[in-house]
Amino acid sequence: MTADQLPATSREVRLASYPRGEVTLDHFELGESALPEPGEGQVVVRNDWMTLGSVARDQMNPDTKLPIPVFQPGVAMWGRTVGTVVASRSPLLAVGDLVEHFSGWREYAVGDAHEFFRRDRALLPGPEYFLSQGPTAWHGMVDTAQVGEGDVVFVSGATNGVGALAGQIARLRGAERVIGSTGSKEKIGFLVDELGFDAAFDHHDGPAAEQLAELAPDGVDVVFDNVGGEQFEAAVQVASRGARFALCGALAGQHGTGEGGTPRLPLMQVITKDLTLRGFATLHTPDQIENWNDRFGAWLGEDRIVFPHTVVEGGVPALPDAFIALLERRYSGTVLVRLS
Ligand SMILES: NC(=O)c1ccc[n+]([C@@H]2O[C@H](COP(=O)([O-])OP(=O)(O)OC[C@H]3O[C@@H](n4cnc5c(N)ncnc54)[C@H](OP(=O)(O)O)[C@@H]3O)[C@@H](O)[C@H]2O)c1
Repeated sequence: MTADQLPATSREVRLASYPRGEVTLDHFELGESALPEPGEGQVVVRNDWMTLGSVARDQMNPDTKLPIPVFQPGVAMWGRTVGTVVASRSPLLAVGDLVEHFSGWREYAVGDAHEFFRRDRALLPGPEYFLSQGPTAWHGMVDTAQVGEGDVVFVSGATNGVGALAGQIARLRGAERVIGSTGSKEKIGFLVDELGFDAAFDHHDGPAAEQLAELAPDGVDVVFDNVGGEQFEAAVQVASRGARFALCGALAGQHGTGEGGTPRLPLMQVITKDLTLRGFATLHTPDQIENWNDRFGAWLGEDRIVFPHTVVEGGVPALPDAFIALLERRYSGTVLVRLS
């Protein structure tokens, strides 16, 4: 596509207002902005896929403590995306290159070539695979919790993009038993039958501590926590002596409702059981991303891992509905919206 064949405009989703509680379609607006020709050093990218996660709900809160920028009313939202370079005035990127970047929620992105990170298409089965949550799952499970041979592992919120890979990584690193929590019978089947978890429970079926203790009668050695709240408290109760916790998310408190982000912590249990509780924030450094993509490609090639994901069709206009469905827990795995 040459510069004169580029479309004149690009559709984008903007934040209409900050939600206080439940997110509805009224909090978004679909807009259209002129697509400028690239200036010196710039590229134009057609966005092909973007991923959605609950983190965007935090970014709709102007008071969030996240170390990333929040969305601004009236301005296009942003998020992790892959796309194809369709015009370039930079020696760094050529037309046809696959790039990963953060200018999602829109059809085309224009900017300095340094803001777009080239990916080797041959490494993974499809461009959408570059949007996996693997760097976070690896950072939490391996670098932070140091999972290893013989560990009994508990992953809370195990069906989401991070959790579904974290559990599989634990198994590949030698864990003896991997247990997940989720929100429905159907998702238990997904964890056990499709992802190879040894057991899973539905948090609706009773107190998490009782269900976890039943599935891990000798305790858990590693906890990868996406949820916080009651499930974190349960994991502390069931933890073995010396257990390592990787604190990844606090979904029970991230959606603008509930106290899940402030669980009770029985300090004497933490002390007497010699527990390590470690939060982590994955900054997606080039090393983290490249190491993961290499490893992911190799494991996929050997059929040792699967990429759990849900594909949503409909392009940019479908993004607000898809985001609300994500918050309503209707999807499993990484949520991928096809944009082109
Ligand atoms: N520390 C880091 O560096 C880092 C980086 C990226 C993401 N994160 C965090 O990792 C977590 C997972 O992120 P993700 O993008 O993979 O998935 P996500 O889209 O945030 O996960 C949504 C899924 O999580 C499950 N879930 C469990 N408890 C929930 C609750 N109380 N409310 C809503 N959903 C709940 C639901 O499935 P069920 O039906 O099974 O309940 C839902 O389908 C999030 O907390 C995110 O903020 C952390």
